[in-house]
Amino acid sequence: MEMTIDSSMRLVVVGGGVVGLSCAWRAAAGGARVTLVDAAPGSGASWVAGGMLAPVTEAWPGEEDLLALGVESVRLWPGFAARLGEAAGREPGLRSEGTVVVATGSGDRAELETLASYLDGLGRPVQRLSGKELRRLEPAIGPEVRGGLSVPDDLAVDNRLLLTALRAAAEKAGVAFVARNAAGVVDDGTRVAGVTCDDGSVVEADAVLVAAGAWSSALHPALDAMVRPVKGEILRLGHRAGAFPAPSRTVRALVDGRPVYAVPRDAGGLVVGATQADVGFDLEPTVGGVRDLLRDAERVLPGVAEFALLEVAAGVRPGSPDNLPLIGPVGPEGLLVASGHHRNGILLAPVTAEAVVAMLGGGAVADVVRVADPARLLRRANG
Ligand code: GLY
Repeated sequence: MEMTIDSSMRLVVVGGGVVGLSCAWRAAAGGARVTLVDAAPGSGASWVAGGMLAPVTEAWPGEEDLLALGVESVRLWPGFAARLGEAAGREPGLRSEGTVVVATGSGDRAELETLASYLDGLGRPVQRLSGKELRRLEPAIGPEVRGGLSVPDDLAVDNRLLLTALRAAAEKAGVAFVARNAAGVVDDGTRVAGVTCDDGSVVEADAVLVAAGAWSSALHPALDAMVRPVKGEILRLGHRAGAFPAPSRTVRALVDGRPVYAVPRDAGGLVVGATQADVGFDLEPTVGGVRDLLRDAERVLPGVAEFALLEVAAGVRPGSPDNLPLIGPVGPEGLLVASGHHRNGILLAPVTAEAVVAMLGGGAVADVVRVADPARLLRRANG
């Protein structure tokens, strides 16, 4: 059953990335009067991203809550994509070929075995494969790869098709777009009143959702220090006539301890990512970052040397202090945040949108989302 929101509610969503667009679309479809404030919706980290929907292969001991949240969202993804395709009148580019995660040297294989044992222990068995078995599955994988794991349930999505579809669905659901940067959330000391834009205009609101990615913390003092930028560089490669075909599955790899991934696109293209660095709002790709990605990708998928290098880009992920997202009320009444999704914004968009709509409509929020309550960070800060 669709959650309904009081149709007199004026919701302003700040941020037109995958999380803001998803929440705006679902809230408008649920009945709210939604305005989305963003000077360039769909142009930030969500545009740069690779589009892996891979909670299991991104899992790590100690991050069980994040794994549970990711597994729930990947479960929601096929329904979310189908509803989106119908609402937008265009496909969001979901792929279901699965993921293999592979290792080269012995240290990398030991790391992978740690991951496999951890997943076994959680009752999420993965299939261990030799290098030969991996090459039978994905002939693009090169001889330096000695072993790996197959996770058939992981998905992937073409993030750019997704953003276009989300924008179309949001528009069709009645979301009004204000093409300005938000300067801050206005409140009267008790509850939110609206959002001030960079030209001084104010969009009035009964509720405000801050979904401004790495920029979220600057929008209200209650969000101070909750979100920081985490830079990532990423490449887009195109298949050229005569080149070895790209893999059909997402390939994640550890190469001498460095993680690299290749996410397939239609027409044989690949998105290769990503570096990770806490260097502030730096959106300039570096020579060293591109060199590392190309070198590591070529060691795993030697055929990429023949591909076209179509695009080099950098984005800033919204990192949180504990790597869990922030989804829920914060500060004055009527202020909500959906940010801090770090490496998982695209994966977690459906579960986030569902939770935000439940919060706005007074419905029950799924248990797995409770760990994302921003109040946990205030408790930490207050000792
Ligand atoms: N989701 C992968 C990344 O952030 O690079």
